Amino acid sequence: MILILLGPPGAGKGTQAERIVQTRRIPQLSTGDMLRAEKAKGTPLGKKVQAIMDRGDLVSDRVIEEIVTERIREPDCKRGFILDGAVRTVGQAKMIDRVLKKQKRELDVVIEIEVDEEELVKRLKKRVAETKAAGKPVRADDNEETFRKRQAVYREQTAPLIPYYKKQGKLRSVDGMGSVAAVAKAIDAILDEFAAE
Ligand code: AP5
Repeated sequence: MILILLGPPGAGKGTQAERIVQTRRIPQLSTGDMLRAEKAKGTPLGKKVQAIMDRGDLVSDRVIEEIVTERIREPDCKRGFILDGAVRTVGQAKMIDRVLKKQKRELDVVIEIEVDEEELVKRLKKRVAETKAAGKPVRADDNEETFRKRQAVYREQTAPLIPYYKKQGKLRSVDGMGSVAAVAKAIDAILDEFAAE
């Protein structure tokens, strides 16, 4: 199964992807995690994207194409994978379509997690407080100002993917305002339809 999780920053893409990894046994491809790992290692790519990520902008489609195409060629992606926040512009969506077509594979479904901005800000504050309480470093882009900027970037550059995938007949939306368990239930109902095919 090839699945895209779409939704604004803090919507719960990572939370749901981690769970789907366990229940469906397919890997989670989070470009945010991959890029943060490059930053942490101080690689040339990490240095290149650091300032862009820290101010809440998107890195270039070319960088995403490189890291995503390389990753989906790995053997653990044979049975499928979850693209968690890994498709954020129409250019990236077209690139994924192209890469999959070349591999004679097809995207199954795009699940959009819908959450209001004020709820997202509450979740951000909670995540920051929990990270601090655990003595871990807080993400450089997890402060309210940058988080609001990330929401604006989502509206301008990523939300156009909603009509793009709707037109392809791939889009399903779930209410992300409920508990983690309630959102999981709604997502699982959609995934079960594809698993049954
Ligand atoms: P990335 O790391 O992908 O961040 P994001 O999309 O901003 O998303 P988050 O990780 O903040 O949120 P999430 O939706 O995963 O929510 P989570 O499950 O953590 O990207 C970071 C940056 O990298 C980008 O800004 C960009 O610069 C760059 N980048 C990455 N991919 C790119 C691409 N393809 N193109 C260009 N640039 C790219 O949940 C959030 C919190 O809420 C948690 O504390 C969680 O416990 C809680 N929570 C989750 N669900 C619920 C619920 N239902 N109820 C209550 N609390 C909940």
